[in-house]
Amino acid sequence: MDLPSFIWLWRIAAWSMGLSLTTYCLLAASGGFLYYARSHNPAPTQATTQPITQSGEAVAQGSPNALPNTPGLASAALNRPAWLRPTHYILGGILVLLVLLLLGIGVVGTLGEYGGLGHSVHLPAGLTVVALTLASAWCASRISPQRPWARKAHLTINGILLVAFITVTATGWSVVQKYL
Ligand code: HEM
Ligand code: HEM
Repeated sequence: MDLPSFIWLWRIAAWSMGLSLTTYCLLAASGGFLYYARSHNPAPTQATTQPITQSGEAVAQGSPNALPNTPGLASAALNRPAWLRPTHYILGGILVLLVLLLLGIGVVGTLGEYGGLGHSVHLPAGLTVVALTLASAWCASRISPQRPWARKAHLTINGILLVAFITVTATGWSVVQKYL
């Protein structure tokens, strides 16, 4: 049992986990803001003609300047600050990197300690978090007016991801108890 020689590794893991949970909360907040801005926005669902609908979708894709004379849509652009979507996207990228870092630390640390993997339910819990995070990011990249399922999938996966995060923290914590 040589955990102390890996203590720096687990210290990085603890910080990364704190940052992951913080990032998740910031994503929930910025995502909630995106949702609010979209649902309090008269376009594009209430737009009547095809060209406006298409322009509206252009707004939803974050290019308000590409909009000519669509007053309802102009207010949509005001509702939703230009920095919001890129911020949400960048935070999402950070979450993906943190989760991959945690996976790397978990695998390297466990291999260094035991020479093998699969010592507890923490392994499937960790792999589930990684898979869900990657799936959520992939769905997010698919979100577009032509793919209404992508937004729904993004939100559903994020709800499950919360449960998975709690599970991985609880199982990881119970493993830590062994060493304390
Ligand atoms: C895993 C990394 C993530 C990435 C890359 C990502 C990216 C995106 C993108 C591109 C959109 C579409 C924005 C638009 O409508 O133009 C979006 C929407 C949204 N995201 Fe995320 N996101 C991530 C994680 C999360 C998480 C963890 C949450 C919540 C806990 C979240 C909540 C939302 C919400 C509520 C929306 C608004 C959906 C709507 O307008 O109905 N996202 N996200
Ligand atoms: C997204 C978050 C996390 C991921 C993806 C992750 C992933 C992993 C993986 C894949 C392993 C190897 C497990 C095995 O082969 O049995 C591992 C080990 C470990 N993880 Fe995590 N982990 C995460 C969060 C945490 C947290 C929050 C803690 C502590 C509270 C933690 C503590 C540990 C410990 C102590 C081990 C060593 C396993 C042992 O001694 O049996 N992990 N982690």
